[in-house]
Amino acid sequence: MKITVLGAAGGIGQSVSLLLKMKLPAGFKLALYDIAPVTPGIGVDLSHIPTDVAVKGFTGNDLPLALEGSNVVVICAGIARKPGMHRSDLFKFNAGVIRDLIATGAAICPNACFCIITNPVNSMVPVAAEVLKKAGVYNPQKLFGVTMLDVIRAETFVAKFLDRAAGTIRVNVIGGHSGQTILPVMSQVGGFEFTDEEAAALVRHIQDAGTEVVDAKAGNGSATLAMAAAGYRFINAVVRGLMDEENVIECAYVEGGSQHSRFFSQPMRLGKEGWYKVLPYGPLTQAEKASLEAMLPTLRDEIRMGEDFILKPE
Ligand code: NAD
Ligand code: LMR
Repeated sequence: MKITVLGAAGGIGQSVSLLLKMKLPAGFKLALYDIAPVTPGIGVDLSHIPTDVAVKGFTGNDLPLALEGSNVVVICAGIARKPGMHRSDLFKFNAGVIRDLIATGAAICPNACFCIITNPVNSMVPVAAEVLKKAGVYNPQKLFGVTMLDVIRAETFVAKFLDRAAGTIRVNVIGGHSGQTILPVMSQVGGFEFTDEEAAALVRHIQDAGTEVVDAKAGNGSATLAMAAAGYRFINAVVRGLMDEENVIECAYVEGGSQHSRFFSQPMRLGKEGWYKVLPYGPLTQAEKASLEAMLPTLRDEIRMGEDFILKPE
């Protein structure tokens, strides 16, 4: 199996590539691509780590070589936020990056699973979907927006709040990946009933966590290391599904699983052909229902922005 990371010289790209080189099963291939000319060197650097994952870095016109025969394409190419910016401020630049990378992916490895990390995720996935559709190769079960960082943040903050060991709590996060569209389903965290105030404070922390990192990095980018950990967990789940492992379940932002909006994040089963069944996230409290209703106009607008970028270019 072959995994390709696009944007591999960046903060997320380098860290997630390191995790993949260290942890993928023996025999896997890892291809790295970035417009930064250092990328072949990053490949050489990683190749000195003693695991049986073959790694090679590409740049310039070699994107097709990086994508050739790929089963999973991870996209973290594009610009990141600075303090004072919203994720939607990245739209203009990053939509062009996603359009061009996905167009090449559609031509070279149309059957791959495409996992989009680049922000704003809520709009970049619709951009990718429309490009794949135009190329006649769109398979909604193989296109994912990676919302896993919200899940690991929720699991970390909730475990800390409950004084439980890290990694012992599971939290589903539904909706999308920006502001109020990030909705952790606190009412379904097993073994504990939060008061409305406790749940609201935790939800606020999870929704604001990206901005917390952007502000703390003070103009030097956004979350990279926790994103790499989240990205690795998600890519690994996609790979385990492709290898026909049973019971692989994670949250992701996909088309076709929800009545709320064209794209929506929720837990799903992953299998040999990508995701194949969305799973219920349990009954919501009145407050959660209200939050879900309140997010939908924003989520739908952000989806439309992505669609229009391809369908109604200026
Ligand atoms: P970064 O600036 O460190 O790296 C981005 C990389 O993309 C750079 O190496 C750059 O050369 C490369 N790049 C730009 N245009 C390219 C192109 N056309 N083809 C190939 N490579 C290209 O940024 P980062 O911190 O790694 O973040 C990357 C993206 O991920 C940002 O949009 C950021 O907002 C997003 N992000 C998403 C999540 C999430 O939860 N989904 C979390 C954190 C960051
Ligand atoms: C995050 O949640 O950390 C990412 O989406 C990056 C950002 O801009 O906040």
